[in-house]
Amino acid sequence: MNERLAGKFIVIDGPDGCGKSSQVKLLIEWLNAQGVSTARFRDPGDTPIGEKIREILLNPEHLSMCTETEVLLYMSARIQLWLEKIAPALKDNKCVILDRWLSSTYAYQGWAGGFGVDKIMKLANDCLERVWPDLTIILDVDTKTASKRLNRELDRMEAKGDIYHSKVRAGFLKFAEEHENAFVIDASQEIDNVHENVLRIIGEVSFS
Ligand code: TMP
Repeated sequence: MNERLAGKFIVIDGPDGCGKSSQVKLLIEWLNAQGVSTARFRDPGDTPIGEKIREILLNPEHLSMCTETEVLLYMSARIQLWLEKIAPALKDNKCVILDRWLSSTYAYQGWAGGFGVDKIMKLANDCLERVWPDLTIILDVDTKTASKRLNRELDRMEAKGDIYHSKVRAGFLKFAEEHENAFVIDASQEIDNVHENVLRIIGEVSFS
């Protein structure tokens, strides 16, 4: 297992409330139990600059932030994360698990925010040394179930409302349709069933 997953870059992504952080945690525990050496990061975040950008992006007081600013801030945090954390971990032959990645910019800003997915891809290709992971798993959940799970104070992105978040969901499904090595799991199921599906996909996917 370690040989198969060493140096692989795996992303777990999906709408707010899809249960992605719990699935990342379960996956890391499982991989470590199999003797796979892992590194886990969240996007945006996990670098000094990235964490500051994350705070700006999610602060509910920043209601005037437009989609273009979001795009550039998310991309900036991601560039730092790649350079400072992901690239070195992959070089070290770690199996890198990412909580979100460019697939989120595609679904949130590119699709739901109306920036345009082609423009997102152009910017990513110009700015990132590596654009796509080896595998993206999208945890799909309907907006009603997702918002029930978010029963706490919402951050600026979570608070954008049901219409925006249904578009985000559609954006992720479109992303999965258009990209190889992107798979969708029904994340309205119980947490253990979702975990089993994550493991099944990782077991079945062909890493080139
Ligand atoms: P998180 O709470 O899952 O860590 O994600 C932070 C929020 O930022 C979440 O609402 C999704 C949103 N987001 C985007 O809108 N675009 C992006 O490119 C990324 C990575 C996250």
